Amino acid sequence: MANHFLFCIVFILIPALGTSDSILSQFRNIKKRNADDVIINGIEIYSIKIDCKVTSRFAHNVITSRAVNRANMSKEVIFDVDLPKTAFITSFTMTIDGVTYPGNIKEKEAAKKQYEKAVSKGQTAGLVKASGRKTEKFTVSVNIAAASKVTFELTYEELLKRQFGKYEMFIKVKPKQLVKNFEVQVNIFEPQGIRELEAEGTFITNDLSDVIKKSFSGKKGQVSFKPTLNQQRTCANCSTSLLDGDFTIKYDVERGSPNDLQIVNGYFVHFFAPTNLQNLPKNVIFVIDISGSMSGREIQQTREALLKILDDIKGDDYFNFILFGSAIYTWKDMLVKATAENLEEARKFVRAIDTEGATNLHGGLMRGIEMLNTAYEKNIVPQRSTSIIIMLTDGQPNVGISDPPQIQESVKKAIKEKYPLYNLGFGYGVDYNFLEKLALENKGLARRIYPDSDSAIQLQGFYDEVSNPMLSDVELNYPENSVSDLTNNNFKHLYDGSEIVVAGRIVDNDLNSLTADVKAQGADNDVTFIAQGDVKETTEALQEQEYIFGDYTERLWAYLTIQQLLEKRIAATGEEKENLTAKALELSLKYKFVTPLTSMIVTKPEDYDNQAGLADKPIEAEARSAPVTHQFSSVSSLYRQNAPPTWYTSVDGDPHFIISVPQKEDALCFNINENPGAVLNLIKDPVTGITVNGQLIGDKRTSNEAKIQNTYFGKLGIANKHLDLKLAVTPEKITLQNGNEKSVFTWLDTVNLQQEGLTLIINKEKNLVLFMDGGASFVVVLHQVWKKHPLHQDFLGLYVMDSHKLSEQTHGLLGQFFHPIDFNIVEIHPGSDPKKPDATMIVKNNELTVTRGWQKDYRKDTKHGLDIPCWFVHNSGAGLIDGVHTDYIVSSIF
Ligand SMILES: *[C@@H]1O[C@H](CO)[C@@H](O)[C@H](O)[C@H]1NC(C)=O
Ligand SMILES: *[C@@H]1O[C@H](CO)[C@@H](O)[C@H](O)[C@H]1NC(C)=O
Ligand SMILES: *[C@@H]1O[C@H](CO)[C@@H](O)[C@H](O)[C@H]1NC(C)=O
Repeated sequence: MANHFLFCIVFILIPALGTSDSILSQFRNIKKRNADDVIINGIEIYSIKIDCKVTSRFAHNVITSRAVNRANMSKEVIFDVDLPKTAFITSFTMTIDGVTYPGNIKEKEAAKKQYEKAVSKGQTAGLVKASGRKTEKFTVSVNIAAASKVTFELTYEELLKRQFGKYEMFIKVKPKQLVKNFEVQVNIFEPQGIRELEAEGTFITNDLSDVIKKSFSGKKGQVSFKPTLNQQRTCANCSTSLLDGDFTIKYDVERGSPNDLQIVNGYFVHFFAPTNLQNLPKNVIFVIDISGSMSGREIQQTREALLKILDDIKGDDYFNFILFGSAIYTWKDMLVKATAENLEEARKFVRAIDTEGATNLHGGLMRGIEMLNTAYEKNIVPQRSTSIIIMLTDGQPNVGISDPPQIQESVKKAIKEKYPLYNLGFGYGVDYNFLEKLALENKGLARRIYPDSDSAIQLQGFYDEVSNPMLSDVELNYPENSVSDLTNNNFKHLYDGSEIVVAGRIVDNDLNSLTADVKAQGADNDVTFIAQGDVKETTEALQEQEYIFGDYTERLWAYLTIQQLLEKRIAATGEEKENLTAKALELSLKYKFVTPLTSMIVTKPEDYDNQAGLADKPIEAEARSAPVTHQFSSVSSLYRQNAPPTWYTSVDGDPHFIISVPQKEDALCFNINENPGAVLNLIKDPVTGITVNGQLIGDKRTSNEAKIQNTYFGKLGIANKHLDLKLAVTPEKITLQNGNEKSVFTWLDTVNLQQEGLTLIINKEKNLVLFMDGGASFVVVLHQVWKKHPLHQDFLGLYVMDSHKLSEQTHGLLGQFFHPIDFNIVEIHPGSDPKKPDATMIVKNNELTVTRGWQKDYRKDTKHGLDIPCWFVHNSGAGLIDGVHTDYIVSSIF
């Protein structure tokens, strides 16, 4: 749970640029008023304060930033903060010249309507959301008149989780410029007493280490970090800030007893973390995806991680490996004990793991479950042992049983809640939503593994979290007539170094004390703990601390309840889902949390052009931005925007290109306006010999009104010169030419073809998936329109799923974007469509006018597609693509 436990704020406050200067050239504009004033492009940010108060693991954080416009005209100021994914925003206010404009938390749809209304009346500023690895971004921008001041104040709350024996707050600091008064202040209050407290920053140099002050005694702990302007400088006379990195605070509490039961203001919270227990003997089944898409770095990192994990497996544990590609492979027929010989043999096996074929996820998982069932039946593993299944996949099931609901049903039936299932989704090609449902239905959890140089460490880190169960089937019980509205009170496992938290409401007004009992299965026998909480005691403990907000138990209860309702909702359906949603929404509104069901809307006053902003909470399953590093290829996709049968919006109909820009967590898009018949080069790699070309077709007849002819991709040619392979795809048929051999399929076929150098899967009437060894993988989506449609005809979309093995020399309309591309957006301003602001984009040294819009991704939902927000580059991508678009016209598809 590493990512979830981290606590992070990235703090950025950048004045928007009046011109197209890059961030760097801003510094040339620095004017000095006093020695201490740092004014960039007219704006001085003179104060940033991050104030964190933690009471019994519940963190309440306030970020305040103050700026003044020293220019003689109005300027835009952007407030930009990254929050931990597990945090909920609870309030935001903007104070301009002494007048405060608060954000209102509303039901998502209601907020959206209000936002659209405000936007249609005037300009848009906007709180933009984006999802990063550990954080979510919160952004707001506002125009400030000359000589005016603005204060932004953002509050968010979070329950810190214990992991590896510590609670961790992760504050990523990045002010991007020197700030006269910069301060991080953390106050911790723990009724059990603080045992240790660490504070460190990745950006802390020797000179700065003394600037971090930390101390703790008894129940209180403090950390402060307040560098002067000069201490913030990267060098003596530099105007750049060295504050850029992670600031981490870790602490733990005294544990005289494994239980701490606190009762305040009608709510209780119970923390349970026993120490000195013996680990449970455990059985681990690793179910590993070895399908073609794992080839290259992913499989290499998987091997690396598994080798490290093998070093951590304890002598009493039992384990086995199951690999799934198109077929299922097992290392041993049965689980084996982790003896030195078996571990050595396992290492050899792991080193030899290689990729093959498609993704038979269901087959792999079922083999693992059956193996565990048999192991207990035949007494191969100790009866008093606990078992976990860890599955790693980077794709979507496409052979065997591949329908997600069917897989869920079958797996649930087989596991019967006996073993938690942990699903690790490697990269962005996975159906994370499905993996999450599958895991949550089976008492486990899902985690995304980010494709990056540290993927192996992420995998190993996850194993460390779940590899030391101390107790299983933990049940915390409270007297029924004293409490209500309990959060989850039974847990499959308690892992070493973690903590169980249960909260609830006290219904007995006269209650003086509360007794709870905890039952669980330990390594050798069943264990019982008794916990006791005293109202007077808790109240007295809290009185010592003036800053405490007395309702922390209630807010902690609300936070935990909402989080668990949202989690249950993921796997629920029908009326149950509706009920869970209604309950979570009601609590989110009551306690003012920005959750996935609510949004916060900030409307700026008339004087400031009635600007409005909307803050949303992104969802991990929707975090489908492309891989984080270019080694893992930019996922580039291409499709026809117009004319799927269910989508009649009248937009111009040229082939639509979407280019993901992972490091910006954003996308670029453009059209190519060419005549039917033209063949465009999409990808060309002289090194691997792979080329992809596409031929345009038009509508059945041309519309007289349309100035520009609608076009679609009607034929795609994918070739690998070195392997002498050619694949031609049209909406009618699929022709594979391998040297002199030719195979023809139709879209009515279901095909899973594997041969040297390639795997071809045709999913009947939907799409085809092509993996090329040592090359790339593609999905071609078939769009079928109504046969008698007067205008439109069937067409194709191409999605590049993986291109990391293509060479540096790869080019083409799509291929050129497999290399990292950077851009900067400045000057967001209203465009001709009030819902689609324009902006200036700086890319490849060009200054382009671009428009914010949405394009459809049809990979998963061929009918409706999924909206992808992107910056649209006009005029056939002029200025973004190398050369002009006509340079990409070729004579034939091969
Ligand atoms: C504002 O300041 C700029 C730069 O100092 C100057 O060129 C311009 O004349 C000033 N405008 C007004 C209205 O004072
Ligand atoms: C910094 O600036 C001062 C005054 O402009 C100058 O005397 C000094 O040499 C500079 N120091 C460095 C390290 O450049
Ligand atoms: C949903 O809530 C309604 C009203 O409270 C209740 O009658 C119904 O039984 C609930 N349904 C489920 C499936 O929980």
